[in-house]
Amino acid sequence: MTEGIVLMQQTKSIKDIDVSNQRVLIRVDFNVPLDNEFNINDDSRIRETIPTINYCIDHNAKSIILVSHLGRPQGKDSTYSLKHILRRVERLLGRNVAFAESLEALPSILALLPQGGVVLLENIRFYEGEENNDTTLSQNLGKLCDVYVNDAFGASHRKHASTYGVAQYATHKVAGLLLKREIDCFSKALTNPLKPVLLIVGGSKVSSKLTLLSTILDSVDKILIGGAMSNTFLHAIGYNMQSSLIEPHLAEDAVKILRTAKAKGVKIYLPVDVVSTNNLKNPTEIKITPAQDIPDGMMVVDLGPATVKLFSQVIRACETIIWNGPMGVYEIDKFSRGTFSLAHVLADTYAYSVIGGGDTADAIDRAGEKDNMSFTSTGGGASLELLEGKVLPAFEVLERK
Ligand code: 3PG
Repeated sequence: MTEGIVLMQQTKSIKDIDVSNQRVLIRVDFNVPLDNEFNINDDSRIRETIPTINYCIDHNAKSIILVSHLGRPQGKDSTYSLKHILRRVERLLGRNVAFAESLEALPSILALLPQGGVVLLENIRFYEGEENNDTTLSQNLGKLCDVYVNDAFGASHRKHASTYGVAQYATHKVAGLLLKREIDCFSKALTNPLKPVLLIVGGSKVSSKLTLLSTILDSVDKILIGGAMSNTFLHAIGYNMQSSLIEPHLAEDAVKILRTAKAKGVKIYLPVDVVSTNNLKNPTEIKITPAQDIPDGMMVVDLGPATVKLFSQVIRACETIIWNGPMGVYEIDKFSRGTFSLAHVLADTYAYSVIGGGDTADAIDRAGEKDNMSFTSTGGGASLELLEGKVLPAFEVLERK
């Protein structure tokens, strides 16, 4: 699996070319979570791209065009307008940023921008051609710039016009500083890492992480499985999971993974005790029991204390730790203890810790430990595909050293 990472690591970055007096188009991932009043809940993705934009300004780029998607709009829909985040981009950059309502409006805006001026284009997914990697849209984006920079790690697993097709039509196509950092940090954990290497994996579905579990067995020494994922594994080895979320059709796959892991000398740990409840939203009963003794009709929602102790010991004994997926229903305070306890334990180690994006990053943040991890990825789906050993499309089309 590491060949893919090595290949992606050879990607040229913006530091390998000269951007002075060039029109630079940066594909960013400003797909940030917004509440109902369009307040930004977490601006990490914007913050993490600021160094790349500043790099272009500091190195005398002629103009900088920022291109991003926001959400999954069906056509043009103002709910998904990037105008909602324009002020935050300006504030974080400390300068005015122009806004282009459409691609057609860009040339006249660019003509008026001062040297090093920045313009944000409206949601690129308002264009039908974006998601099917349309040639005309890719060409039109390519025409706008001399240098194409991809800094959208979160969208790097998408083969879209602005993440993939456009590169064909730009003279230079390189990685931004965030994209580079993401690949370097994952590489440190997966190619020649300090051992033992541990994967903590959780979340609700085995189905979404089956490929990960099969491919990563060659790269890790130990795996902790928690969250609803572990329910399917416990069910597969014969436990009665009562009303817990399970994917019974994947029981055979789960057993196969356990067997392969054993054959390869990879130690897999499952919960020995669990927290379960009678009702997720309005719990009137919450019980801690051994994983074999889940009370009738109850569902597992968190790791039990003995499991937290066991998993903590494993974490403390490892040197490189990758975490993808929460250990329970961490969004509900009562059921966040397992996830948050492990986050605190991990934060206290000297291990090299890499956090997959999405829910895991959110959980670590809520635990107050975000700054205590070695690296937190800005990509959810992208980091999962990277861990699965895939070469991400966005990297495929960039120049190599
Ligand atoms: C993400 O949030 O994972 C990225 O921005 C990609 O978004 P998408 O899953 O809608 O393509």
